[in-house]
Amino acid sequence: AGAQDLAGRHVVVSAGGTREPIDPVRFIGNRSSGRQGVALAAAAAARGARVTLVAANVEDAVLEGLGAGRAGAADVSVVPVGSTAQLADAVHTAAATADVVVMAAAVADFRPEATPDAKIKKVPGRPPEPIRLVENPDILAGLARERRRAGQVVVGFAAETGDAAAGVLEHGRDKARRKGADLLVVNAVGAGQGFGTASNEVTVLDGAGEVVARAAGSKRVVADAVWDTVVKVSS
Ligand code: C5P
Repeated sequence: AGAQDLAGRHVVVSAGGTREPIDPVRFIGNRSSGRQGVALAAAAAARGARVTLVAANVEDAVLEGLGAGRAGAADVSVVPVGSTAQLADAVHTAAATADVVVMAAAVADFRPEATPDAKIKKVPGRPPEPIRLVENPDILAGLARERRRAGQVVVGFAAETGDAAAGVLEHGRDKARRKGADLLVVNAVGAGQGFGTASNEVTVLDGAGEVVARAAGSKRVVADAVWDTVVKVSS
């Protein structure tokens, strides 16, 4: 085993992508596979943490990635969730005893205002009703600004599209300041990067938006770089 620098700590990782119901059979979702969150959970367990993985719609095949990092008695409990409301509940419950919370899940920004009990029907000759959206609460900002326990480290992820590295970072910097998290892991998505892919390239910003680390490689390599940074800021 490597360094047990998270021994005795409870860490919460959210992973995957939330799905907001439109009706009982349809949803608005996103392309997050949950691989980066699973890699974070596996890496934390290998470093000795007790891990709660709040997994939003993560396929079983992806959750198998927990196996690779499970060094002996390592400890990951998986809480499966679907919608943003469910994810918020599960994260809030686990965060109440956590030393570190990492929000790696892609959380839907909006949800349908109403969710009818019956499937929406197509009426011949009539145009579809628009789906009205309302904004979801920002779980990360709430954790960082309202719910934080003394000493708790709160980490966000920001998937930014665009290839101009400067623009991506600038966006990340604004987001870091706005959300109030201790660390924001910025990664570029699209064009073979990020969502659904095996590797990742990230820049870690502190709460002021300053660059504190960079990492590139497999999602496990990125995960360990994130934990290195967490250990550094919390020691
Ligand atoms: O603003 P944006 O969605 O890009 O921020 C991404 C970060 O915020 C991620 O850590 C994500 O888990 C978190 N988030 C959240 N609640 C939302 C939207 C995003 O916690 N409603």
